[in-house]
Amino acid sequence: MITRQQLIKKYIEFFKSKNHKEIPNASLIPENDPTVLFTTAGMHPLVPYLTGQKHPLGKRLVNVQRCIRTGDIEEVGDDTHLTFFEMLGNWSLGDYWKKEAIEFSYEFLTKELKIDLKKLSVTCFRGENNIPKDKEAEEIWKSLGIKKIKFLGKKDNWWGPAGKTGPCGPDSEMFIDGIEIWNDVFMQYNKSEKSKYESLKQKNVDTGMGVERTLAIINNQKNVYETELFKPIIKKIEHLSSKKYEDHKKEMRIIADHIKTSVFILAEGIVPGNSEQGYVLRRLIRRTIMNLRKLGFVGTDLINPIAEEVFKIYDYPELEKNKDKIYNEINKEEEQFQKTLEKGLSIFNKTVEKEKKLSGKKAFLLYQSYGFPIELTQELAQDKNIKINLKEFEKELAKHQKLSRTATKGKFKAGLADNSETTARLHTATHLLHTALRKILGNHVQQMGSNITPERLRFDFSHDKKLTEEEKQKIEDLVNKQISKGQKVEFKEMSYDEAAKLGALSFFREKYPEIVKVYSVGNFSKEICAGPHVKNTKEIGNFKIQKESSSSAGVRRIKAILK
Ligand code: ALA
Repeated sequence: MITRQQLIKKYIEFFKSKNHKEIPNASLIPENDPTVLFTTAGMHPLVPYLTGQKHPLGKRLVNVQRCIRTGDIEEVGDDTHLTFFEMLGNWSLGDYWKKEAIEFSYEFLTKELKIDLKKLSVTCFRGENNIPKDKEAEEIWKSLGIKKIKFLGKKDNWWGPAGKTGPCGPDSEMFIDGIEIWNDVFMQYNKSEKSKYESLKQKNVDTGMGVERTLAIINNQKNVYETELFKPIIKKIEHLSSKKYEDHKKEMRIIADHIKTSVFILAEGIVPGNSEQGYVLRRLIRRTIMNLRKLGFVGTDLINPIAEEVFKIYDYPELEKNKDKIYNEINKEEEQFQKTLEKGLSIFNKTVEKEKKLSGKKAFLLYQSYGFPIELTQELAQDKNIKINLKEFEKELAKHQKLSRTATKGKFKAGLADNSETTARLHTATHLLHTALRKILGNHVQQMGSNITPERLRFDFSHDKKLTEEEKQKIEDLVNKQISKGQKVEFKEMSYDEAAKLGALSFFREKYPEIVKVYSVGNFSKEICAGPHVKNTKEIGNFKIQKESSSSAGVRRIKAILK
């Protein structure tokens, strides 16, 4: 048996021995990334470096990264799909290329994990859209003695961009007994706004190995739910429900997966809500509750006794530190849903009995007044084999404009930041705002979160009072004054300790590598950050606070735009 920790250690040590430097396991909420809600792969925080910026730790990197993917949420319950997982990855930023990448993968699989060559098969890119067949990868695998090599098209053997634009390339996937465990992506292209594949300045390697699947396979377990990363959670569900996993696999798997993911999202400071990450969290918790009902659970405070197991499995400091808050939020959400759940279900049941279908208006009523996420109503409808008028639902929703679900959905599909000029302008404006807040409100102000879309910036910070009109005006004026001064924006690389000594602002939620970039705006602001930024504040334009509101207890939120 090999444990999760042993597997992670083996991987990181192996790549360190090949001159890779370990980078931190970044937050699940991508900083300054307008187009994704969650970190879905280890490469997210590396986009600027894949496209040519110099990484402070060099050209060879390795880490384990926590990830969330909600695109496959309906598949959860089968043997392999999860919404939360950990990904091991190694990167070459314009350094080694296919030969070394494949040889490293081969060596790790056969020498370190001691996987029998006979069990191993791989796939390579067949060639499509004027991009040639990957014969190079094939030759390398052949030279290593791999016999089972298949060629597939873009659908299977191409990775990225995670969003509409960005780094991407053909990949080569590794399978053990038919289950995919590792992906070597040869990122040499950039997909442009016009959907053209242009060659990147440098050839990169981006790899990802799933911790859960790999662990299951090397320990001869049937699937991810048999591993130490799920078994205790399933056991607890069995115990509390007095039901057997064998008889209720699907429900128990969904419950275990969703509770784990919810705990990790809550640990990032996100709370259930009606948009963006908060909406995903709400969906996960409410879907959990529906599945708990199927196992006969009633009432509230059902989730926390199960969630307890998640804290025992993982050693992330974010979990332990936020434990009370996480439990609290889960209970609050359970109580809130409980209030309307029975009534909503009774409306649903009566309607489908009578009408054998569900109008969009009814689905919207369930959504709006009874807290049924539409996906949940869809599932209930599917169970009864009835149809929902989704178009009408969307229309109702649009009318009420309460929640831009389509926008949220777009974000699952869309992906990474375009690093466009607008983003850079908003990003530099965020630094100015951060410092201005501290100058006007006091040094207790700390960054609690930041999110930038092409339209606006959003900044969460610690402060326990609503801002007065006068304060808001002062903050705006200060930021605009710095902009009009035409301050130079520059960065220097230095050790984290040095940066801290200089008083560079940082984000407490982030774990920084040893060497960091410190961006300064004239003498006004100094902040640890990866960029991108404008070169001169003149490029920013006019800064305007659009809204100031409460984000959560003791945390305020500012939305601002540039004109
Ligand atoms: N980014 C690649 C993946 O997620 C490695 O599969």
